[in-house]
Amino acid sequence: MRRSGQRGACDDKLESSMKPIIAASILSADFARLGDEVRSVLQAGADWIHFDVMDNHYVPNLTVGPVVCEALRRSGITAPIDVHLMVSPVDRLVGDFAKAGATTISFHPEATGHVDRTIQLIRDSGCRPGLVLNPATPLDWLDYVIDKLDLILVMSVNPGFGGQKFIPSALQKLADVRKRISACGRDIHLEVDGGIKIENAADVARAGADAFVSGTAIFGAADYTATIKALREQIGIGARK
Ligand code: DX5
Ligand code: ZN
Repeated sequence: MRRSGQRGACDDKLESSMKPIIAASILSADFARLGDEVRSVLQAGADWIHFDVMDNHYVPNLTVGPVVCEALRRSGITAPIDVHLMVSPVDRLVGDFAKAGATTISFHPEATGHVDRTIQLIRDSGCRPGLVLNPATPLDWLDYVIDKLDLILVMSVNPGFGGQKFIPSALQKLADVRKRISACGRDIHLEVDGGIKIENAADVARAGADAFVSGTAIFGAADYTATIKALREQIGIGARK
């Protein structure tokens, strides 16, 4: 029997407050001016800062760690920091990123030995847990843990690099995950990451995404504000179906 206040599978409806989120990926920012880039993109209308962590082991690239996240917080950044861990093992870094000011910490299930334990570790550290599905990763990983997640991230490229081409099968996958979220009944963000541009944002929104990671489309543009505005317009068109 469940005690009152105890969480059960898919039964705790959170407040529905899911307006589309633009998560600007710092991977494509000018790292020599990272603080300024983050401030500019937030001023331009981005909602979250997407913080890609790569370890040259789980993925063949190397980026930044908790000290950079902490430096952004120390410089006065208060927006949510959406940490995307492309590292293996995962658990060692969870506490460090929580201390460094991460808001959400997402990880790839193949990168950890015990998925449920890692989710719990993220929750216990005070952050919001997210699970990331690569293009070839089946949805089965969600079967027994979806009610413990605040975010599901569908990769629309293979992880490791910015500037790749959107993989179209991600659209069906987003629609399938959206169905699972609806069946679960909790407000879980459905985030998409890789190759998101003004041209495909409406289709991606139509498929069910509510959080849109964008790196090169934003940081590669001359005008961040105009680009984010155009992304939002397209997302609005797609979300209306
Ligand atoms: C890829 C990263 C993405 C990447 C997205 O492994 O997880 O967040 O920065 O960049 P674009 O928007 O350029 O595909
Ligand atoms: Zn990412």
